[in-house]
Amino acid sequence: MKFFVDTADVAEIADLNDSGLLDGVTTNPSLVAKTGRDFVTTVKEICKIVKGPVSAEVAATDHATMLAEGRKLAALATNVAVKVPLTLDGLKTCKALSDDGIMVNVTLCFSPAQAILAAKAGAAFVSPFVGRLDDVGHDGMALIADIVRIYTNYPDFQTEVLVASIRHPMHVVEAAKLGADVCTVPPAVLRSLVKHPLTDKGLDAFLTDWKKTGQSILGNDK
Ligand code: E4P
Repeated sequence: MKFFVDTADVAEIADLNDSGLLDGVTTNPSLVAKTGRDFVTTVKEICKIVKGPVSAEVAATDHATMLAEGRKLAALATNVAVKVPLTLDGLKTCKALSDDGIMVNVTLCFSPAQAILAAKAGAAFVSPFVGRLDDVGHDGMALIADIVRIYTNYPDFQTEVLVASIRHPMHVVEAAKLGADVCTVPPAVLRSLVKHPLTDKGLDAFLTDWKKTGQSILGNDK
C-alpha cells in the first residue's frame, strides 16, 4: 500500500518525507487556502521534495478552462497529478489529459458508479472520500470494497484506488485489508499510526534494564 500525505504544508511534507514512508502528496483548494500561500509556487516546492505523484486540483468547472488549468499544472513538474472533480466536464478533462500521458486524480468520488466512469476516463487515481461518507451516516469503507471489487473484475482498468478523507488509523487498516492501492492521510493521522502505548511501555522497560548493564554498544566508536 502506498502512503500519500493530504496537506499543502511544505514544512510538514518535508519533515514526513524524511521518514522515507511517503509515496506522494494530495492537495486540494481548501488545503491550499489554509496555507495562505501562492498555489503554483507551493506545488513546485512540493514536487521538488517528494518524488511520487503530487495532486494539484483545477479550480474551474467547465471543460475548456479545466483543460487549460490542468495543462498548466502538469507543466510545473513531471510528478504532478492533475486533480479534477467527478463531474462530466471533469471526466472529459480527465480523458483528454490522460490521452496526453498526464496523470489525473479524479476526486470527490462518492459512489461505485462514479468510480467506474473515472476508470473509463483513464484516471491514474480515483479518490473516494470515506470520512465524508461516514460523517453523513453512510459506510465509507463499503464504497472502497465495492470499487476494489469492480476494478478487480476488469483488469483493463488501470486506475488506482486512492482512499481519501481519512480520519483515523483504522481507516488506513481497513483500506489495506480491502486491498486499496493508496491512502492519503492527514499528517496527524500519519504520525499517529506509529503510536502504541505498549510500544512506549516496552521501550521504557528495555532502556531501564539496559542502563543497569552499564554497557554501550558504540563504546568509544562515536
Ligand atoms: C483528497 O484528496 C482530499 O484532499 C481529502 O482527503 C479530503 O479530506 P477531508 O474530508 O478531510 O477534507
